[in-house]
Amino acid sequence: MSSHAHLTENDPTFSARKRSTGEIIRRVSTYLSPYKGLAFATVACAVLSLLCAFAFPRLTQYIIDDVIGNGDTSQLTPAILLLIGAFFLRDFFNSVRIQVNNHFEQNVVFDMRREVYARLQRLPVRYYDKRASGDLMTRVIEDVNAVERLLIDGTEQGTVAIVSIFGVLAILFATNPVLAGVAMIPIPLLALGAMWYTLTAHKRYRKQRQASSAMNALLMDNLQGIREIKAYGREQHEDGRFTDRAEAMRQSTLTIMRAWAFYNPSMNFIAAIGTGLVLWIGGGQVMAEQMSVGELVAFLFYLALFYEPISKLHGLNQMLQSARAGGERVFDILDSTEERKTAETNQPLPAPVRGEVEYRNVQFTYADDKPALINIDLTAKPGQMTALVGPTGAGKSTLVNLLPAFYETNGGDITIDGQSISNTSLQSLRQNISVVSQEPFLFNGTVRENIAYGNLDASDEEILEAAKAANCHDFIGELTDGFDTKVGERGVRLSVGEKQRISIARALLKDSPILILDEATASVDTATERLIQQALERLMSGRTSFVIAHRLSTIRNADQILVLKNGSIIERGNHDELIEQQGLYSRLARIQNTTFIEEGFEKLEPAG
Ligand SMILES: Nc1ncnc2c1ncn2[C@@H]1O[C@H](COP(=O)(O)OP(=O)(O)OP(=O)(O)O)[C@@H](O)[C@H]1O
Ligand SMILES: [Mg+2]
Repeated sequence: MSSHAHLTENDPTFSARKRSTGEIIRRVSTYLSPYKGLAFATVACAVLSLLCAFAFPRLTQYIIDDVIGNGDTSQLTPAILLLIGAFFLRDFFNSVRIQVNNHFEQNVVFDMRREVYARLQRLPVRYYDKRASGDLMTRVIEDVNAVERLLIDGTEQGTVAIVSIFGVLAILFATNPVLAGVAMIPIPLLALGAMWYTLTAHKRYRKQRQASSAMNALLMDNLQGIREIKAYGREQHEDGRFTDRAEAMRQSTLTIMRAWAFYNPSMNFIAAIGTGLVLWIGGGQVMAEQMSVGELVAFLFYLALFYEPISKLHGLNQMLQSARAGGERVFDILDSTEERKTAETNQPLPAPVRGEVEYRNVQFTYADDKPALINIDLTAKPGQMTALVGPTGAGKSTLVNLLPAFYETNGGDITIDGQSISNTSLQSLRQNISVVSQEPFLFNGTVRENIAYGNLDASDEEILEAAKAANCHDFIGELTDGFDTKVGERGVRLSVGEKQRISIARALLKDSPILILDEATASVDTATERLIQQALERLMSGRTSFVIAHRLSTIRNADQILVLKNGSIIERGNHDELIEQQGLYSRLARIQNTTFIEEGFEKLEPAG
């Protein structure tokens, strides 16, 4: 097997725009504003807990100098009780803080996750053409979590660090300015280290987020293609592909950890040197009787309270860099333009919708330069059936996908009852169009839920009616749980013909005046075929329908037939007219023994 056999999906880690740490913090803080009370309570508890911790060195000094130094046994027990009381309060406030903080942070993450998901659903189809689902999933789940870490630990550690650094600094300088000066010696080194870490961490985190996305994207793709993997015996091949992605994930995570393993102990060591220096100079001061032993011990304890938050600042920095990499990817989704934002053009279609559809000189191009549709003109009268035929890749699906505005046209205009769809609200537009696609998608729920998707307010009676009209009532009756049978992911537990009929029932229930039908090419047995055909006829009757037809039997019934080739309509008319025109269609139809029109194309234009 050559390396060409490797599938390369379109960039699974569609890179996000770089953003500064400041921008990420600003964006994240907008999510905090509804919870000012909780944020304040978190910080207040942190500060209270800290103040209680400040009592410890002071009490220790008192015990060493005044109680032990003076041999005052009666004061020992009260002093210890006071000490324990201070610790109790410290931990009590800490416990309250953790609880408040959890609520705070879960609220924020809940809001953020919902917003990302809501935005995802409102992004244009074009957006998804370029992205892997696994990548988007990673953003909603993992990257939001990276931002969450910043909120959980970040807010608390940040405030505690700042309060304690400045608080302790004041105490240190007030008790012994010389020693305090000595304690500051490691600070420039700590600052340099933090700067190095900050400047380099982002690159490492971004790599890791991308590696994680790539791995998830592959996993998602493979889970959906599990039958193909088995059918082609590609398990080992896929193991290899996954190993590559997992390896990239392992390497990028190790890179982060390696940097951290070097950075964090180094910073601790530099701080320890500070402690050593203080003990050295302070020890001299004690021996020179410029300072009491208790004062020195208290000073050292305060010093620990000073260096510890500084090392927490490193942790905070790490979190911040991780959140920045994740935040970039989350905000990338939030900043993508939704389909149709302009409010002034958001008119509903005037009711009742008759369903007259007109394409005038419509042009359309996908991302590349090759036009997919050129000068499309067509009129479909209310209730008429339009059949689209043409070789594969001619642009049939593209043409019908423009009607519900899955894609926006690049030129020309499409109108429904005379109103341009570009001035029509997407909600009203799509409410009036039913789409039965080539490969019907069923959600992982029950048969009933899948039919009811066409009209969430439908009664059981109406669902039953639709199921009967779609000829799926009989087979549903034979399922173990009837309408409550779970269909499995994408409806895997049903046959293609069954899925099709459920999707027809769903469209019937939606009961919209316009219908788009991408007829399935999959052959089913003649009996099922007849059932589906019958269901489709019921579905089409009284609706303006666009049918991408493959069966000549369907096409013959159409009010107009449009023959597409290379993005243009090359012939139009009803069956009899087209036969008279002596063009491509007439030659197709004359070929005997074809059920599917594609067979005709193949016979007329052999591959190549
Ligand atoms: N999402 C997309 N992004 C870019 N190009 C696309 C996309 N979908 C289709 N195309 C291209 O546009 C052209 C028309 O495709 P379309 O799906 O409309 O063909 P079709 O007539 O429906 O074919 P078939 O009968 O096989 O379904 C093809 O060349 C196809 O490669
Ligand atoms: Mg198609």
